[in-house]
Amino acid sequence: MIQVRRDFKFDKSAVLVLLTSEQAKSESVPVKDKALLAELQKAVAAGQFEGNGGELFPAVSGKKLILFVGLGKEKDVNRTALCMAVRRALLSAGLKKVASLEILPHADTAEDAIAIIEAAVIGVYAWKKYVSVKKDDKSVSKKDIFVVASPREEYSAIVKVAENVNFARDLVNENADVVHSLFLEKVVRGIVRGKGNVSLEVLDRKKMLARKFGLLLAVNQGSNKEPRVLIARYRGAGKKEPYTAVVGKGLTFDSGGLNLKPTGHIETMRSDMSGAAAVIAVLKTALELKIKKNIIFACAIAENAIDANAYKPGDVVVGYSGKSVEIGNTDAEGRLVLADVLSYIVDKDKPARIIDIATLTGAVVVALGHDYSGLVSNNDSLAEELLASARATDDRLWRLPNYPELKDSMKSKIADIKNTSNWRGAGGTMTGAEFLRQFVDKTTWAHLDIAGTAFVDNDVRLYYGHGATGVGVRLLTHFFQNN
Ligand code: BES
Ligand code: ZN
Ligand code: ZN
Repeated sequence: MIQVRRDFKFDKSAVLVLLTSEQAKSESVPVKDKALLAELQKAVAAGQFEGNGGELFPAVSGKKLILFVGLGKEKDVNRTALCMAVRRALLSAGLKKVASLEILPHADTAEDAIAIIEAAVIGVYAWKKYVSVKKDDKSVSKKDIFVVASPREEYSAIVKVAENVNFARDLVNENADVVHSLFLEKVVRGIVRGKGNVSLEVLDRKKMLARKFGLLLAVNQGSNKEPRVLIARYRGAGKKEPYTAVVGKGLTFDSGGLNLKPTGHIETMRSDMSGAAAVIAVLKTALELKIKKNIIFACAIAENAIDANAYKPGDVVVGYSGKSVEIGNTDAEGRLVLADVLSYIVDKDKPARIIDIATLTGAVVVALGHDYSGLVSNNDSLAEELLASARATDDRLWRLPNYPELKDSMKSKIADIKNTSNWRGAGGTMTGAEFLRQFVDKTTWAHLDIAGTAFVDNDVRLYYGHGATGVGVRLLTHFFQNN
């Protein structure tokens, strides 16, 4: 449990975590409590603590425990640095068995408080369902954490959003044979059950056949699992207000199909439904926070598996839009399932804006690494709004060009378009985006490529531990709260 309260109690059962920059060494360190200030100055005078970034120093004051946490140079302290430092402190060995904590920000600002909340919810998250643990191990999520700050209304929403980031992460981290299409359908049904202002359309195989979702069905053809399209239409605003649609890529596993992924690339492919997980988590958040917008939440769910029925390189497939697509590579399946759902929603709902979120290309990792998701858009205002939400939430985005000329590289001799480019992999993220753009007509559109940001495979990244990051949940929630 995490709570913000104005004053600190410093009772003897609690540990006080005090954040401070290198200002700790100066006369003007902003620590108001006299006893605490004395302890800090004692540690500094003894050369035991300087407030450097990454520094942790435990001190005892009477019978009370204090953990000093260094933040480095004051001018370098920002939200990410705060979040990383608090994460490190909360996971430190000394606090392992502590049940209750008070955290004192280094300044009484919303930036500090939000960073601490997110460190305590998002930063300490770990997927341990299948790891045997000792009975008396207290995970950080079980601790009582009090942030000592001036309360603000927005904090309770920040906690909810952070918890729903972790909700998305659980969906991604769980085995692909557990989180399959029917499981996700159940999750979405559970979220919308009993809610008057949201209606759910579920397309099963039969309905998809009737509606000619040839591309999505082709991708799922080698799987023994059902394909699904889930569309939740949420009305948080008046009937006349326009709809914005968000569409998530939901490949519950991406083997690559007959263009099979090699060892080293296939192991994390249960994360290929991270876009859908984000969409579902934002739907949950919109209902919980009663976001006052009209939003269509859609997921394109399939499994790219192999058996004798699997779709094949060289096939030509026609989807909902009527365009024929040559399959250049069965591993470029995300753009296929999205194409059917994008063109369906554009056709049926005519939303004012449509945003897709997808683990679409390995190329985005080459271009932007693992902390920035790629953004491609045909509309500068929409792009700016998304970038502003990215800055406000630290759910980072970087814009790549909208690049219509790339269509020429996806020409096919036997179909209207091909799902791969002839340009030998150059600009792969923009090619993927350009393919999708062919299916949204003139609709204001943005594409979020989260292939680099959705999953931490090895080292910790920023304040994310191993596994799913829940990318997109904070970003899209903020976007809908503000646009
Ligand atoms: N799901 C992958 C993209 C991906 C890569 C996600 C790494 C997460 C981490 C996608 O379906 C894919 O395989 N894309 C291909 C496209 C190519 C064949 C044109 C790729 O990026 O290699
Ligand atoms: Zn693929
Ligand atoms: Zn994929």
